[in-house]
Amino acid sequence: MRAHTAPLRIMLGALALLAIAAAASPVAAQSQSVSPTKSAVSEQQLLQQSKTIRGLGTIPDTKSYTLEQPGGDWRHFHQVTLRWIGGIALLGMLALLVIFYLSRGMLRIEAGRSGRTIVRFNAFERFVHWMTAVCFVILALSGLNITFGRSLLLPLMKPESFTAFSEWAKYAHNYLSFPFTLGVVLIFLMWIAGNIPTRADVEWLKRGGGMIGHDHPPAYRFNAGQKLIYWIVVLGGGAAAVSGYVLIFPFYGTTIETVQQAEMFHSIVAMLFIAAMLAHIYIGTIGMEGAFEAMGSGTVDLNWAKEHHSLWLEEEGARSRMDSSRPQPTVVTGQ
Ligand code: HEM
Repeated sequence: MRAHTAPLRIMLGALALLAIAAAASPVAAQSQSVSPTKSAVSEQQLLQQSKTIRGLGTIPDTKSYTLEQPGGDWRHFHQVTLRWIGGIALLGMLALLVIFYLSRGMLRIEAGRSGRTIVRFNAFERFVHWMTAVCFVILALSGLNITFGRSLLLPLMKPESFTAFSEWAKYAHNYLSFPFTLGVVLIFLMWIAGNIPTRADVEWLKRGGGMIGHDHPPAYRFNAGQKLIYWIVVLGGGAAAVSGYVLIFPFYGTTIETVQQAEMFHSIVAMLFIAAMLAHIYIGTIGMEGAFEAMGSGTVDLNWAKEHHSLWLEEEGARSRMDSSRPQPTVVTGQ
């Protein structure tokens, strides 16, 4: 009798082992279809099956029925990839500027100041520039707080203070987008004429913009480097504004996926834009003697103009000679 049942027991044992192995395998677990209304249904199983967990509702906004929708790729982008992009772009640009400053120092007016000045930007141009710049700086800092604040600021502050700061920063970010957009549109209209590429830009670029050595390649009102900044402001500012409004006003013709894509686009454009503006702010302040006053008082020294924008100076001279009713370009005499 014992000898008869032995093969049967071995077969049954093998079948039981197979059944246990099959039940333990993750493939078997994933392929199981789950009924969302089953009382003991696992949340994880449901998410694997349908990506979102939705409930039932009575209000007209059916989007509110979504109870859970993990971020997936977007969450990884927001928490990991974007921090790398931002870190490399901003710290990389800062490192370049520090190296440049240490090796080259402030670019001086080589001939020294002449004591005579010429109007470079009128009051309206300066107002638009500073309005846009102030908005940009606050937008940049409040935006960076969204990406880096939790890891960089929160450890330094009380959680309640960080919450209050972040809330105000977010209000500022939303509302200042409007004057910033207006500023970008006005900058586009105000300076487009001086920012179309010309042959002089090719020459200017070939000579490295005079950054190396004591070269002063000729330039009209804006040199090739400034034209690059202008187009970064117009196109980068435009792209950041449009994608930002998709985020401020979600679901007007967009889905959760397009909103996530807009967020990724907005944040990458913003990081690169901020990196570019760091270079602009550097050259407009400690990088070049005599540059800041162009946007400060609106006038620059004649020798500065000769060295950095000789073709523009010639044009201004010719224009004021032709138009006798126009004041001469040298408007102030110093010392
Ligand atoms: C916040 C610090 C900033 C400083 C100190 C600064 C300084 C300056 C200066 C001195 C100029 C005149 C350059 C010249 O005469 O040739 C200038 C021009 C300009 N700025 Fe700024 N700026 C700042 C921020 C910004 C921001 C945030 C934007 C736009 C988002 C901007 C956009 C422009 C543009 C488009 C021009 C004309 C093209 C050029 O000169 O590069 N600036 N800025």
